[in-house]
This record gives sequence, C-alpha cells and structure tokens, in this order.
Amino acid sequence: MIRDRMAVVHLHPRLAPVYPLGTRVNEAGRLEVGGCDTAELAREFGTPAYIVVEDDLRSRARAFVEAFRAASPTAEVVFASKAFPCTAVYRVLADEGIGCDVASAGELASALRGGFDPRNIHLHGNAKTEEELAYALESRVGEIVVDNHDEIDRLTALVAARDQRQRVLIRVAPGVSPDTHPSISTGGPNTKFGFNLEDARSAIARLQADRRIDLEGIHFHIGSQILDLAPFGAALRAVCELGDFGAYNLGGGLGVQYTADQPAPPSIAEYATAKVAFVQELFGPGKKVIDEPGRALTAHSTLTLYTVQSVKRNVATWVAVDGGMSDNLRPMLYDARYEVDVVDRMADPDGAAGADTEVVCHVTGKHCESGDVLVRDARLIDPKVGDVLVTPVTGAYGHAMANTDNGSPRPPVIFVKDGDARVAVRRETREDLFARDV
Ligand SMILES: Cc1ncc(COP(=O)(O)O)c(C=O)c1O
Repeated sequence: MIRDRMAVVHLHPRLAPVYPLGTRVNEAGRLEVGGCDTAELAREFGTPAYIVVEDDLRSRARAFVEAFRAASPTAEVVFASKAFPCTAVYRVLADEGIGCDVASAGELASALRGGFDPRNIHLHGNAKTEEELAYALESRVGEIVVDNHDEIDRLTALVAARDQRQRVLIRVAPGVSPDTHPSISTGGPNTKFGFNLEDARSAIARLQADRRIDLEGIHFHIGSQILDLAPFGAALRAVCELGDFGAYNLGGGLGVQYTADQPAPPSIAEYATAKVAFVQELFGPGKKVIDEPGRALTAHSTLTLYTVQSVKRNVATWVAVDGGMSDNLRPMLYDARYEVDVVDRMADPDGAAGADTEVVCHVTGKHCESGDVLVRDARLIDPKVGDVLVTPVTGAYGHAMANTDNGSPRPPVIFVKDGDARVAVRRETREDLFARDV
C-alpha cells in the first residue's frame, strides 16, 4: 500500500532537462540514475563522487553523429576531450566512432590509451612544445591544428628531420565574440588562440610552401556555452577572405542547460544543421565540416554527489559539503550556476511538496577560501548533516579541472548503467598525495 503510494512520485518536470537520460525518483523516494539509487552509490563509493550515466553519454554522441551526418554525409564529429579527459570516457566515445581533439601530450596519451585510432586524433594547443609536436608525429595523429608562427618553425623542422608528411589545419581567430563569459570566449580580436586574419595569410603561404605539410583547411573555436548560433556564421564569413579550402573545423561551443530556469539551448540537431548550412551557403557543397563538441557531449551525463557536513546560520544559512572547488571550479572561475538537491527529497508530483520546509541557503565547499561556494541561494528541503546532495550537469570541466586543494584527494569516477555501478577512476588516496615526493 505504502509502496504503491510512493511509486507515483516523479522527478519534478522542471528538473528533467538538467538530469541525465533515464533519471527517476525510485519507489523509495530517492534519486535514481542509470538504474542505481544515488543514496546507495554514496554509501558504497563515498562522497564526493562523479557519477557518469553511460547511456546518456552514448546517446549524445549518437545524436551529434546522426545530426551532422544528416546535414552532410562527410561531416566529422570530434570529442573535445578537455571537457572530460578520463580513460573510460575516451573508451566510450572511441567506441561510438567519433574522433578526438587533444590539447596536450597528456591528453594525447589518454586518448591513445582510451582506444582512439591516432588517425582520428587532432592535436591542439596555443603553446605546443617541441616534445608534444614530436610525440604527435611519432603517434601519427591525423591532424595538427597549427596555432602560431613559432609553432610552424618547430613543426616544419620536425617534419623535415623525420621526413614525414603531416596534415594540418590552421587555427584562426575570426574576431567574433559570442555572448558568453569572457574567460571562455576564444575567437575575438584580442585572444591568445590562433592567428589573426592578417597573420593567417602568411601562415597559409608558409604551410603551403612546405612539401611535407598538407594544409587541409581552416579551424576556429569562438568560445564555449554558446546559446545563439549566429556568431558561427559571422565567424565563417570572416574567414572567407582567406581562400577556399577543403575542410572547415568550426570548433565546439554548444551551450547546455545547467539550471531549470536557464533557457533551453539549441538542440544538437539545430546546432548541426545551422553549422553545416553556414558552410554550404558560403563555400558551396562538398566541404568537409568538422565539429568539436566538448560540453554538450559530456556535461549532462554526469552528476556529483556530496555529503552535508555542517549547517550554519549567520546572515545566511550555509550548508557545507565534503567537496567544493577541488572537484568543481566552474562556479569560482565563471560564476557558473548549478541546481542542487537532497537525493531523498526530490519527489514532488504536484510542485507543492516540501514548500514549508524549503531552506534558502548557500551550498559551500570545504576549502579555505570564502569564494568556495558551489551554489548560492539554493533551495533545499530541510537540509541536515549526513544528507546526500547532488549537483547535476557536472560532466564537463569538472573532473578535468579537479585539484588537490587543501590536500583533498580527488573524487572517483563511477559509471552507472542498467543498475550496475563500476569504478572507472578510483578515489585518490592520501598516499597518492605523496606519490611524487622524492
Ligand atoms: C579548440 C577547442 N575545440 C572545442 C572545444 C570544446 O568546446 P565546448 O566544450 O564548448 O564544446 C574547446 C574548448 O575549450 C576548444 O578549445
């Protein structure tokens, strides 16, 4: 009888867009993802912990591939792996048949370990070292995305010394700034990334003059968390003057919905259709369109679990958890907003439950900085010590930027699928913190 009554509860519809595919509130009234009860995951694996819903990750990879292929059969989707550089994530995405963008030798090593065919790997970076370039050549990566004249000096010397051919794209800053946080706007006139249009012309001439270099086309990445698609068209119009090439890599950038009250971003299909249409309108059919999604591929797949350690009241109410800026730097770097919920108080079929016990509070981390606040002005139902809290949409630039501030071992990455949970990355230990001591 009680079970029947509890079985009718649902995740509040306003939260559905921010939680991974298949999320529900289970019969026990607790948040369930990938068929696993999140309170039990917290008990079994400890907190903080990143929980990755594998089906969500795979479905977004498929949606990107299908949408781009539908718009252009030769289009290529490449995972911007800086968003979630974790071997298990590389494995899943390699298995889905997409390519991989790496921005350092470390990411290249991880992509190879994760099973990517080197021919499908693109090396990026605005300060690639000679060692990184040599490693990329040795690994026979498909493309090197050339960023500056100094890099051309190093690359041309290396291909000559190895007598090796290499395909490249040239990264251009088209002078277009989308509406996003300045720290993640990367294609404006005053950016550290890529060639400005004038320098791009001399770079193109240098690359075309080298018989070991095959210049395939143009790359730009104008920024991240982009909700309006028009700037991609403006960026393409800006690079038109550089000539007509076989390939156009339009970077990543599709934004995601972090909170229930944020507007929904364009769908993956709208994004793919618009990007391909911009290329076809300006350059005609037959061009290879390459796209590098990071955030929109991985963000929604993952949530972070925490345990409340203290509830304090002064001018505001402060709910402190066992993680913070060591596992999620985005609120501190970009004023990023998140939803936060208590995992066993999310059932709200008619939108009224819990209203009388709702507490407006700041959910804060455990680090020695006042700025270590994960969610300001959160609304939690009766938060108490020992409660398990969840922040959804932490699969992009969370694990990637995790750190050991205050000697905090980094959280594990747990994959969930069909009711099974597996540790993909174990929790760092205190001994790991001393592993590099000499
Ligand atoms: C060159 C490049 N491509 C793609 C991306 C992925 O961007 P997003 O995560 O916004 O899709 C980035 C992110 O910084 C990038 O620098």
